[in-house]
Amino acid sequence: GDVAVLVPAAGRGERLGPGLPKALRELAGSPLLVHAVRRLAQADCVGHVVVAVPAGAVDSVSALLTPVLAGTGVGLGLVVGGAERQQSVALALAAVPGGYPIILVHDAARAFAPPELVDRVAAAVRAGSDAVIPVLPVVDTIKQVDPDGAVTGTVDRSVLRAVQTPQGFRRTVLAAAHAVDTDGGATDDAGLVERLGGRVTTVPGAESALKITRPFDLQVAALLVDP
Ligand code: C5P
Repeated sequence: GDVAVLVPAAGRGERLGPGLPKALRELAGSPLLVHAVRRLAQADCVGHVVVAVPAGAVDSVSALLTPVLAGTGVGLGLVVGGAERQQSVALALAAVPGGYPIILVHDAARAFAPPELVDRVAAAVRAGSDAVIPVLPVVDTIKQVDPDGAVTGTVDRSVLRAVQTPQGFRRTVLAAAHAVDTDGGATDDAGLVERLGGRVTTVPGAESALKITRPFDLQVAALLVDP
């Protein structure tokens, strides 16, 4: 495949409760990162994966992921992540070899994103989009509140979308966005492209690409583990 995937996995995952960094928490006997990379490697488009890991975890993550990718033809790079997600992505991007014109960025926390979603995002970039994000409709009613929690307004949810990963980019576009913007504040990479005035398009997301953030999410994700 001509697609490289950056996997920011260097966060502490404090909202999941005390313990290992989130990407290394286990579900059904394997760390979330292993579930995530296994699915990425199942996507036809993927040729290389670069994971940003917590400081001190390069050797242990290498030992975890090398057997996952053995025989798949997918290359692996590992970098130590930065203080903020955005920096972890920039460090991983700098470690991608030549020959990958399409870059996807995928949170380890979305460990059960299906391979078809990965291929769908990459195909939309290949078809000409600079930046592509998978989205779902918002099912809840969304309200604005004041600091006391009193409601000040109801938002029109028909124009809202919940955004997932993998997000896909032409490599030059992602590199330019990260070069201009290094303050670390963005919560997703498409946001950096938007700030530059770039056009970001959408494809349908997948419910199984949920972000594992809180303990309840782990219980849901347990239903998605391969038998
Ligand atoms: O904290 P949050 O859930 O938004 O993190 C999203 C993803 O970014 C996670 O996979 C996490 O491991 C990663 N991350 C990172 N480097 C940081 C902070 C978060 O790679 N400094």
